[in-house]
Amino acid sequence: MTGVRPMLHGVPETLLWTLYNRAYEAGRRYPVLDDPMALRLLADLDYPFEERFGRPNAFLSQAQGLRSRCFDLAVQEYLAERPQATVVALGDGLETGFWRVDNGRLSWLSVELPVVAELRKALLPASDRLRTLSRSATDLSWLDEIEDPEGRGAVVTTQGLLMYLRPGEVRTILAGCAARLPGGILVMDTMARRPARGTVAGRSRVGAMTVPPMHWAMNPGERHKLRSAHPGITEVRALRPPRGRGAMGELIRIQSLLPGLRTLTPAMTLLRFGTATGTDRGRNRN
Ligand SMILES: C[S@@+](CC[C@H](N)C(=O)[O-])C[C@H]1O[C@@H](n2cnc3c(N)ncnc32)[C@H](O)[C@@H]1O
Repeated sequence: MTGVRPMLHGVPETLLWTLYNRAYEAGRRYPVLDDPMALRLLADLDYPFEERFGRPNAFLSQAQGLRSRCFDLAVQEYLAERPQATVVALGDGLETGFWRVDNGRLSWLSVELPVVAELRKALLPASDRLRTLSRSATDLSWLDEIEDPEGRGAVVTTQGLLMYLRPGEVRTILAGCAARLPGGILVMDTMARRPARGTVAGRSRVGAMTVPPMHWAMNPGERHKLRSAHPGITEVRALRPPRGRGAMGELIRIQSLLPGLRTLTPAMTLLRFGTATGTDRGRNRN
């Protein structure tokens, strides 16, 4: 192998697992996620994916593809109204959402830890509308980098990130966005409490990798509590993954609908920010 060798450990290494899943799904016939760049990234990396994470898992890969697609659809829905918005992808890893949703007018800001920011710059093509900030998402100075958030709009995505942060850090991010991005939205996936407990106990494995501790968890029924982070959160809405492929796609959909099963998988939620006195404060759908 002659590709780029990623030296990642702990939470940053998990980005290789999600990339592995997305790329496997993108390579299927009739993929739920059109992502040729994920396939190219996999080929460019000198990393023993199968040794580390096991053989590709068709169910997990499709579920991962549908989750990314769900993020894309929420971002695209917002961009349809505000095409010049800034999309801030916190903990963007080697995600390629910019190329999947680019409308030619948006700006994209990836916020990543330095080791991953370097990897993004080394592996992904440049664009004058794409910037990678090398800093922790918990350092809210990235909010200062959003150009005219009220005029142009802002979408914050947190795919696969918040569960690895401390509860106080998650609250600070949500409150910071609500205070600084009126008219904006934030899209998140959350891990339920039971599987998160397994990771804290060190019992959760993916192939040879021990899943790092997930310190922040939330059951889908607890969504309403997110509003308490800041009065500027005017809407909390559950997002359902789009329809998948074949019988496995149906299984993924059913899993996200049944109360007993949906606490085993990540749940998707959209937060909308308004002014604390706005007229849409009453909205809160689970
Ligand atoms: C599960 S990966 C998800 C990566 C990507 N969003 C995806 O879905 O493929 C978690 C990501 O969070 C990043 N991360 C962890 N802590 C972070 C922090 N404090 N600030 C910014 N990124 C962080 C890691 O480097 C890693 O890329």
